[in-house]
Amino acid sequence: MNYPLVETYLREEIGLDASSLGPGLLARAVRRRMDAAELADERAYLEAVAADRALRQALIEELVVPETWFFRDREPFLLLGRLVARRRAAGRPLRVLSLPCATGEEAYAIAITLLQAGLAPAEFSVDAMDISEAALAAARRASYGRNSFRDGDRTPPADWFEKDAADAERWRPVARVRDCVRFRQGNLFAFTATETYDIVFCRNLLIYFDAEMQAEAVRRLLSVLRPDGVFFVGHAEAAVLLRAGLSPLPEPRCFAFTRQPVQQPAASNAPAAKRTEPLRRPAVPPAAPRPFADVVMTPAAATTASPEPADSLAEAAALADQGRLAEAARLARFHIDAHGPSAAAFYLVGVTHDAAGETALAESAYRKVLYLDPRHEEAIAHLALLLEKRGSPEAARLWQRARRPQSAARGGDA
Ligand SMILES: C[S@@+](CC[C@H](N)C(=O)[O-])C[C@H]1O[C@@H](n2cnc3c(N)ncnc32)[C@H](O)[C@@H]1O
Repeated sequence: MNYPLVETYLREEIGLDASSLGPGLLARAVRRRMDAAELADERAYLEAVAADRALRQALIEELVVPETWFFRDREPFLLLGRLVARRRAAGRPLRVLSLPCATGEEAYAIAITLLQAGLAPAEFSVDAMDISEAALAAARRASYGRNSFRDGDRTPPADWFEKDAADAERWRPVARVRDCVRFRQGNLFAFTATETYDIVFCRNLLIYFDAEMQAEAVRRLLSVLRPDGVFFVGHAEAAVLLRAGLSPLPEPRCFAFTRQPVQQPAASNAPAAKRTEPLRRPAVPPAAPRPFADVVMTPAAATTASPEPADSLAEAAALADQGRLAEAARLARFHIDAHGPSAAAFYLVGVTHDAAGETALAESAYRKVLYLDPRHEEAIAHLALLLEKRGSPEAARLWQRARRPQSAARGGDA
């Protein structure tokens, strides 16, 4: 059963594009919440949700994906450290926003990075915001198991973490780190700030929105980013900022953008053309629906299960979102073997290799996407970024293509 009224409400209220969650997830969540509220009619439930904050929050908590871990993707934090070293001369405290912060790992990792870079606590602040009250409660508790350290060898760096006195299997950022972060609950689409930020981390949120809401989200965040600020997004979200006319910093695997012009061949500096139609939403939901969160699907198991195409791709995307990149790429390749080549599956193969720093494999996958779908905006943008980073002149042509209105895009030449 579908719940179109609730879907529309959620899109307008928190930006959520139900199709980004994988088949059936929203419907199952709404059904559970309606049962809990003892309401059988969708319209009656929606009216109750609109009038009752607790009901609304309960629905949101069912749907958000607070998947995160310390130093996720590594390179953005290394770049942050380098940027800080360059910007210290500014003579005022550096201000960083982590939105969404989920359970806090990103915000604490930012604080650790800045302290490591030599800043004193008084020289910076980290504001961290998320819509999920449950996630924020965990962030404030600041007690983390090994899974939160999955980007390294699962050992928390001793200088910055201490054992949780209440649980020997858990760690807490030391007080000096915890004190640098201010958490608050909030919805990006109701977000107003009186302050501006030097750095905005908005990673792995835009993937849950459709093109229109992505543009609105970026507009809101740009309104609080200083003119010379840096905007970090997740690896599957780069195309959104390119569409907004921002320029990528030429740092591998960082997906950091500024308002400054791209320092690349002249052709790529052309102003972004005005769009004549909305940006197409990502071809694959690269995010993790929670029911799939613990699934590891080997090709053999998948053969037996013979999942539906959309399901197995959603599953691969979920693995990627948990940082299980090799498994995600394997499952996406299995999907191709089982269901035939598709732009969506090759795109997922591409972003997983890209995130793992396997640039040759990523490039090959993006080229396959563009062979199958020459107008695939995300693949064009990702391939352009890869080529630019290795100094290929082909990047300029692709940048032009990435910034061209979709209706004008021509293809087959990647
Ligand atoms: C996958 S986590 C990303 C966390 C972290 N930035 C990272 O990349 O690891 C996505 C988070 O977005 C939050 N979220 C979803 N919609 C939101 C909205 N409209 N405003 C603020 N936060 C939102 C969810 O609660 C969830 O914690």
